[in-house]
Amino acid sequence: MNDTTPGAPPPNRQSSPQPSRPAADAAAHEPFGQTVYLAPEGFTDDLVKELGEVSLVEDRLVFAPGPARPSAWAQNVWIDPVTIPITSIKGGAKALRGLQRNWALWPLRHHGRAKLIQENLPHVSAKPITFPTPRPTAPLGSWTLLDENTILAAPHCSSPFRHGEAVFVENRTAPPSRAYLKLWEALTQLGHWPGPGDRCLDLGSSPGGWTWVLHELGASVVSVDKAPLDPSVGRLPRVEFRQESAFGLRPQDIGPVDWLVCDVICYPTRLLRLVQGWMESGLAKRFVCTLKFQGETDHETARAFAAIPGGRVMHLFNNKHELTWMWPGP
Ligand SMILES: C[S@@+](CC[C@H](N)C(=O)[O-])C[C@H]1O[C@@H](n2cnc3c(N)ncnc32)[C@H](O)[C@@H]1O
Repeated sequence: MNDTTPGAPPPNRQSSPQPSRPAADAAAHEPFGQTVYLAPEGFTDDLVKELGEVSLVEDRLVFAPGPARPSAWAQNVWIDPVTIPITSIKGGAKALRGLQRNWALWPLRHHGRAKLIQENLPHVSAKPITFPTPRPTAPLGSWTLLDENTILAAPHCSSPFRHGEAVFVENRTAPPSRAYLKLWEALTQLGHWPGPGDRCLDLGSSPGGWTWVLHELGASVVSVDKAPLDPSVGRLPRVEFRQESAFGLRPQDIGPVDWLVCDVICYPTRLLRLVQGWMESGLAKRFVCTLKFQGETDHETARAFAAIPGGRVMHLFNNKHELTWMWPGP
């Protein structure tokens, strides 16, 4: 971790980021010159490792010089944040409202004062969303107090969800595992999902949460796992279950699929080889795959997935020590 920002503190986990201060004027704001990344709970070290050069890590916020960099491990990225000098709670709220309507507070310091400022801002609904629903489109900014008299605010963030938290109205009865939330989130992030007439291949499908999601959307599913499916999913009308290894299957044995989804527990390098085989075959139109890490995170293979043109790798809010690679087609 090196620091190249003039006047910024040496990288550590205690000291304050150093905003360049404009004249005290509640309406003035000035570029911060750094990007702020919010790490998923428990994965700050993965985010720091991925970013490389950072200037400060405090709580789950990681400050890094320069414009936003691609980062799979960021739950939310505060793009082009600005600093705003304030002299009062009402002045702070007014300055934020002057930038845009919707704001989410990340409480870092001066919690009481920050909360009072947030209470003077328009209410932003944090209600769970129902799947399938398009990604929210209303701009949602993030802000915090750097010190008593300085707001750090980013009107634009990478996630449309408050702090990147994609919270769904859950179905606690039908799906046989909570893994279905990962697929709901991935498809919501992609902005499209399978529908009636689509043929899907679900690798590592047991006990059947993802297969249930695909079937609910109207698709037919070839569901593959070494372990059996939950009977409630196995008897669904458009589900064909094959109890075998995902790695023994050749694409030509399955034929064309509109979606290949994979949640197999395996080393990411093995998943990469499987995906490369399917991409070379040209038989899968779109992919959603979980990269699962045991022990150390395999950043190198995550980068190899991220380098596949047209795709994206991200840590979903509903992921554990995993990343999700999505490829929406050429
Ligand atoms: C996290 S679980 C999948 C959960 C599933 N997506 C759901 O929604 O219920 C991982 C699965 O990978 C399966 N698995 C591990 N190795 C496999 C292999 N070689 N071929 C197929 N499935 C495999 C395991 O049996 C396990 O059911």
